[in-house]
Amino acid sequence: MSEAIVPSDNLFSAETYFATQPPPPSLDHDTSRVREFIQRHAKEGKKVVLVTSGGTTVPLELNVVRFLDNFSAGTRGATSAEYFLKAGYAVIFMHRQFSLQPFSRHYSHSTHPFLDFLDVSPEDTDGHEVSVTASERPQLLEVLTAYKDAHQQGTLHTLTFVTVNDYLWLLRAVSQEMAVLGRNALFYLAAAVSDFFLPRQKMSVHKIQSGKGSLHIEMDQVPKILKPLVEVWTRGGFIVSFKLETDQELLIPKARGALARYGHQVVIGNELHRRKYEVVFVSKQHEKAVTESSEDPDPSSQYEESWIRIDLDKDPNKEIEEEINKSCNGIWVNHL
Ligand code: PMT
Repeated sequence: MSEAIVPSDNLFSAETYFATQPPPPSLDHDTSRVREFIQRHAKEGKKVVLVTSGGTTVPLELNVVRFLDNFSAGTRGATSAEYFLKAGYAVIFMHRQFSLQPFSRHYSHSTHPFLDFLDVSPEDTDGHEVSVTASERPQLLEVLTAYKDAHQQGTLHTLTFVTVNDYLWLLRAVSQEMAVLGRNALFYLAAAVSDFFLPRQKMSVHKIQSGKGSLHIEMDQVPKILKPLVEVWTRGGFIVSFKLETDQELLIPKARGALARYGHQVVIGNELHRRKYEVVFVSKQHEKAVTESSEDPDPSSQYEESWIRIDLDKDPNKEIEEEINKSCNGIWVNHL
């Protein structure tokens, strides 16, 4: 860990980042547990998906009192993880501590608190009995059965991050371990990753003091880790990244830009307010189709887009992640 090589222009390459920012203390332990999980499923020839989920934080002090955060609740990642399990994958669920998790997400304390659907019987000779309200039983049975199955079969492995630094180290370690899976590895990067951070070398050791008027903090850019992920850390894995925008018009150009820059397989674009009922899949056209249209001077013809929309007015219980999962499987199978 050297202070001398921290870049002066606020632009970290992935290499410089990992040479200058310290790994989280639990990294070795987490890596060896994930290795066991991957090797067990690799032996069985099972497909393994890494789902990243929730937002990363950016601490402003070494003794952290304040940090920057983002909006992500982890709904996309937790819901998708369930559909991947259902489709027969082994799932590494790498999520922000305390964000939503597969199965328990159905009983979030804020939207569906489980205490509200438990009944207590009147006291008899055996005391009180606790039971589940009849109307809640079918859903609970379904969720509980899938949850117990995943545990019994050992197909769900959970990892936790909090800061963007934890996330980057863990992502690198897990991707490197997944390299043994070759084409049986799928990356589904739904976490909302901070774009800016404060390098350790520039952080205040103690709580930043007030009393000097405004606070000015200059942050550095988090390296774009999709590039080394695609080119160095994984071998043959299928990579699906997400693109979040608040301006709908930017979704497709930004998604195409990411595919051109990083060379991975799919970008799923979503606009902040429409993300629960509309997403767009952007991918490079199949090689044959590109060859046929190679005379076409329009570079946009190299890409194909496919929108998924669901009608929540008609079917409020429908989850768009079910359709996203089907499309991912379809594209991946075509790609193999
Ligand atoms: O959790 P929910 O509330 O359900 O919301 C879901 C979601 C909107 C967060 C999710 O659908 C989503 O869009 N996640 C990606 C958000 C994001 O970080 O977008 P981005 O444009 O900053 O990054 C694009 C991609 O590059 C991401 O897949 C990310 O993994 C990757 N990335 C980001 C930063 C970075 N330094 N390196 C990266 O490789």
